[in-house]
Amino acid sequence: MAKYLVTGAAGFIGRSIAAALLARGESVRGVDSFITGKRANLAGLEAMEFVEGDLSDPAVCARVCKGAEIVFHEAALASVPRSVADPVSTNRHCVTATLNLLVAAREAGVRRVVYAGSSSAYGDTPTLPKHEGMLPNPISPYAVAKLAGEHYMRAFTRVYGLETVVLRYFNVFGPYQDPTSHYSGVLAIFCRKMLAGEQPTIYGDGEQSRDFTYIDNVVHANLLAAAAPAEKVSGQMMNAATGSRITLNETFRILREWTGYSGKPAYAEPRAGDVRDSLADISLAGKLLGYKPIVDFREGLRRTVQWYRGSA
Ligand code: UD1
Repeated sequence: MAKYLVTGAAGFIGRSIAAALLARGESVRGVDSFITGKRANLAGLEAMEFVEGDLSDPAVCARVCKGAEIVFHEAALASVPRSVADPVSTNRHCVTATLNLLVAAREAGVRRVVYAGSSSAYGDTPTLPKHEGMLPNPISPYAVAKLAGEHYMRAFTRVYGLETVVLRYFNVFGPYQDPTSHYSGVLAIFCRKMLAGEQPTIYGDGEQSRDFTYIDNVVHANLLAAAAPAEKVSGQMMNAATGSRITLNETFRILREWTGYSGKPAYAEPRAGDVRDSLADISLAGKLLGYKPIVDFREGLRRTVQWYRGSA
């Protein structure tokens, strides 16, 4: 019987959490539909019990929750532009799947669900840094869907007593992030293209900024969230990020140096639903979890470039 369930275990963040749990000798079950997850991401996770299935099917949720004590809910259909193109699919795989999972978790006697929230919930309000007390202002279907999941978490804590913790991720990047899709995270796309000598495209003027968060920080926050005392964290939502930001233009300049790409970026129209600036206040996670980032942006980017170089 697996103590931990990781949803989206063949995705970038899910597989990274599963790998960290396995490294600690924990028993882990993973589930993934392979809609965006990759079989190749399961390499190295052979000790994990793996179930292929889609959480928008309640029977799959019931099957995977059986016997689990802690759930890391990472499965989602990520990407703002994907949600703009197909909001119904985003709703199904982010909202319906999350509700089904919560119902099954409660039924199965799961103790705690740790949920992958998104910084997109803050929207494009000018206030920086974004802190948890701010009113949500979702401006894309993706942001709405991820925020709905947060509300379901809290409702399940309030109404049914299921322990839930929401971590609002800020632009997570690192090894295993899929660089091949039009909907991939920008750093994965830039690394792949620039290492291959291809010209990357910057949407807008490149002066938009992000609190790009290296994957190890997010894994660390998840492990802390799973272990923290319920009276401190259950029903709470907090940012998981680094608390610093960088523009796309600056990121491009660093990558130019590290990848050997000698060209310029192409500039294109800004993307619909895009947020201008994003930066987290990480003091609440510090207070509730004792969280501090363990790998800074430059070091994370250096490791990421190295990884894509090796896996290309
Ligand atoms: C948003 C969320 C993030 C979430 C992610 C899921 C915000 C602030 N962040 O990320 O928490 O994890 O969705 O997908 O809402 N870009 C280019 N060229 C490219 C690709 C992207 O210039 O080839 C630009 C985008 O227009 C955007 C920035 O890079 O301005 C980051 O884009 P992306 O990596 O897709 O993430 P967000 O939409 O910021």
